[in-house]
Amino acid sequence: MKLTLRRPDDWHLHLRDNDMLTAVAGVSAARFARALIMPNLVPPVVARADAIAYRTRIMQAVGGASFTPYMSLYLTENTQPSEVVQAAKDGTVLAVKLYPAGATTNSASGVADLSKVMPVLEAMAQNNIVLCVHGEVTHAEVDIFDREAQFIDTVLDPLRSQLPELRIVMEHITTRQAAEYVTSSAGNLAASITTHHLMINRNHMLAGGIRPHYYCLPIVKRESHREALLAVATSGDPRFFLGTDSAPHTKNTKLSECGCAGVFNAANTMECLASLFEEQDALEMLEGFTSVNGANWYGLALNEETITLEKRDEPMSVPEPIVIGDDVVVPFDPARPIYWHQI
Ligand code: DOR
Ligand code: ZN
Repeated sequence: MKLTLRRPDDWHLHLRDNDMLTAVAGVSAARFARALIMPNLVPPVVARADAIAYRTRIMQAVGGASFTPYMSLYLTENTQPSEVVQAAKDGTVLAVKLYPAGATTNSASGVADLSKVMPVLEAMAQNNIVLCVHGEVTHAEVDIFDREAQFIDTVLDPLRSQLPELRIVMEHITTRQAAEYVTSSAGNLAASITTHHLMINRNHMLAGGIRPHYYCLPIVKRESHREALLAVATSGDPRFFLGTDSAPHTKNTKLSECGCAGVFNAANTMECLASLFEEQDALEMLEGFTSVNGANWYGLALNEETITLEKRDEPMSVPEPIVIGDDVVVPFDPARPIYWHQI
């Protein structure tokens, strides 16, 4: 069985910088036509000039591959509305990313007090600039498995009431509550979903031994949440699209006393998704999720190139680790045989 679809896009990707960028950029560039690049570098991509310089480094790292990186700016409490508006208007950035301070990798410069960034958000609403949100509260007293649901009630919903015109993407949703919040919303709200949150639940990470390569943020939840995500991803609802959140860390930093959050899934995402969508009897919805809905949301033309996936008797092997100096980045193990191959 073969499946041909428009070349996919990745609307949430971490490419890092320096040696890591050099090592991983080609993996995404070979598979995806375009990607929205996350700005959580050290130091973060906060200014228009930072985004321009980072884009240049990415283009150098991908060499001649046909790949378009779209940039995002990292919102801080010091971000000026004029900086954001200029960067979006002249096409330097496609979106602005809100990290609640302390929510995840390199989020220390993020936003602790949303009222401090209201002038920026108002300017974004007026100028039709998309806000991508890491949707988790960070208070120590809130259980890590409840942080996304609580963010919706205490931060996102009030923000949307205050600024209904602001276009928001809830990034990497992980819960039934988030899926339902998006489906029940009147407009201006979409969500990206990762490959791994569609494939694994918290048992994969924690039952029968702890598997640090499945540790990411927002953390994977129980099976009923995975099922809710799968239902909306395969439903054809145009508000849901692929953002892999492929987030490489070296094996040493993952397998440490305080391991990093992130799953490196860029190398086998399409094969994994074909397998999942087939299981749901929804292969005809795959192209919408990976190659249409996100582009439409961002107002971009659809890719004209295609890719072909083929189902074979032999499962694909988990991609080989990528060597970085004397360390490696370990690709996502989907925890089940994947019979789809990209040809
Ligand atoms: O698992 C994650 N890794 N979640 C994020 O939000 C950030 C990312 C990273 O940059 O490593
Ligand atoms: Zn991310």
